[in-house]
Amino acid sequence: MISKSTIDKVFETARVEEVIGDFVNLKKSGSSFKGLSPFSEERTPSFMVSPVKQIWKDFSTGKGGTVISFLMEHEHFTYPEAIKYLANKYGIEIEEIEQTNAQKEEAGERESMYLVSEYANNYFQDILHKTDQGKAIGLSYFKERGFTETSIKKFQLGYALDEWTAFSDQAIKQGYSLKYLERTGLTIVKDTKQFDRFKGRVLFPIHSMSGRVLGFGGRILANNKNAAKYLNSPESDIYHKSKVLYGIYQAKQSIAKEDNCYLVEGYTDVIQFSQKGIANVVSSSGTALTPDQIRLINRLTKNITVLFDGDAAGIRAAIRGIDLILEQGMNVKVCSFPEGEDPDSFAKQNTLEDLATYLNDNAKDFIRYKASLLMGDAQNDPVKKASLIRDMVVSISKIPNPIQKEVYVQECAHIMEISEDVLFSTLAQIEKKERQDANKTYQKEQKQHEQNAPFEVVKHHSLGKTIDIQFELERKIIELLLLYGTRTEDFEDLVLKENDSGELVLEPVVHTAKVFEKIYLALQEDEMQFSNQNFKALYDTIIETLNQDENFSVKTFINTVSPESAAEITAILMNDERYTLHDWERNNIFPKSKNLGVAQLVNETILNLRCFLIDQKVNEFKQKTNSDSQNNTILEDVLNYSNLKMLLSRKLNRVL
Ligand code: CTP
Ligand code: MN
Repeated sequence: MISKSTIDKVFETARVEEVIGDFVNLKKSGSSFKGLSPFSEERTPSFMVSPVKQIWKDFSTGKGGTVISFLMEHEHFTYPEAIKYLANKYGIEIEEIEQTNAQKEEAGERESMYLVSEYANNYFQDILHKTDQGKAIGLSYFKERGFTETSIKKFQLGYALDEWTAFSDQAIKQGYSLKYLERTGLTIVKDTKQFDRFKGRVLFPIHSMSGRVLGFGGRILANNKNAAKYLNSPESDIYHKSKVLYGIYQAKQSIAKEDNCYLVEGYTDVIQFSQKGIANVVSSSGTALTPDQIRLINRLTKNITVLFDGDAAGIRAAIRGIDLILEQGMNVKVCSFPEGEDPDSFAKQNTLEDLATYLNDNAKDFIRYKASLLMGDAQNDPVKKASLIRDMVVSISKIPNPIQKEVYVQECAHIMEISEDVLFSTLAQIEKKERQDANKTYQKEQKQHEQNAPFEVVKHHSLGKTIDIQFELERKIIELLLLYGTRTEDFEDLVLKENDSGELVLEPVVHTAKVFEKIYLALQEDEMQFSNQNFKALYDTIIETLNQDENFSVKTFINTVSPESAAEITAILMNDERYTLHDWERNNIFPKSKNLGVAQLVNETILNLRCFLIDQKVNEFKQKTNSDSQNNTILEDVLNYSNLKMLLSRKLNRVL
């Protein structure tokens, strides 16, 4: 367990914009930062980070919170992991209280899988560096491939002893349970027997962007035709092959700095490149790039350079995946190596200077590259040429930016020696067809939805509005408490009084109170209960904290609540940020100013809530009288409430 003082120090030091900046490319926008949401596939930024409030908000998904909740959402960290990560980033020493076996047991399922993977990673490295077998077989293999000690350490390479259960036995002895060894695939369990998956292999650990070990790639050493060259961790709760990129942890800073990411095929390509001095390199581990993987890169840079081996098969394979990258609005270059070479061998044989020069000279814009490649194929074959024009235009149609699209059409026309008009009309055709397809899918889904859930739709319509008003008002109360809870204000209350001529009139009575006291008393007076459970919990905690702490500050408070509450608070506080996002003013919509006068705002909210509750009561009564029309006392109640409502409305008018 991490000590309280460490946690406090972390909170004091960590800056939300710096931490998130490691994962999302943030641009200054007013007093905030803006970027592409790392939680959705959006193309226009709606992800906001506020350095002043030390919170973030993602308007595309509604997520938001503190620096801790970002790490928990994005990296799937637990709370202590997020603290550790930050301590590490800011060089804060972690004071830890030793975990007992019982506590280890308690840690969540996924957390246990992370822990066992981390243990395995350390174990395999120890074996590589500290045992005779590790040194003689594993380490000498890496050395033979030309990996330096530094690279081996940087990529945390390891070795698994060539024994059936050496690793599993040791892990169990250390208190890790077989359940998680099996779930991570480190141990294979067959009936009553168990054995080490990576036995006798050198190991490449696969990290998340933040450096957690998710899985391993194990390379066989002997030339055994019967066994796979690489054996990888199986898909698990923590390892999703399609969502990770090998080397991203080691490369992320360099990718952002160089504003370009090299994409290679294998583990060894990554290491060799990085060792040569080109560190902005990742690998999709031999498979086609997935949208999730592209998104990982997209957060760091808009530019990808795909590198592939110098054989024809490699080129074709690489090209197939590239439309997907274009679709994400990224700029793609491609670069091939001489026949028989791959990035690993080429980097190994050349100096950094030569390598850099080669990449510079040979990296070609993808669209241009594809056009010339295909043209070579179809030189004197009109039928082939027609189909490749279409192929080319399909790629161009994936580019979201219309200007870029047009430039490419012009260039392709030039390379393929056909008129721009032909390309443009083909483009229009393809885009029309895509729209139609999309429309059809949409209609089909709509129809299915209607068939499946007729009741649900009706229900939503009838309830929607009432829930919204109450929700908004309850939320407003929380907002007022958070922003102005400790402020002392003069509240003007309107009280019914008899005037000189004997009429009842509303007269202002001023009393001074703290905002939270005013709200608390008013709600108590009405025996008002929050309908939203999140708000209710938040309200209770806020009131309690405000009661105890005169120097209440949202920034400190938000760190003491659950992640759900923190997200809620952020949503509330970021509401004004949303205005700048949507650029409402330019559209002539002026949100009500916050500085209307806090006392007025508080009164208005309370009165509105009272009116709402009265409406609700009256409706309840009306329902009752419908079924029991003889009941006079109910009618009387309705009348009373209606009068009260009128009174409140008068007060409200005065306030507004
Ligand atoms: N790969 C895999 N399983 C295999 C073969 C390949 O997972 N049976 C993945 C690995 O991530 C590998 C990548 O595909 O790194 C590229 O394969 P390959 O070029 O064969 O491997 P290299 O990394 O070049 O390995 P080596 O140079 O050691 O042969
Ligand atoms: Mn290779």
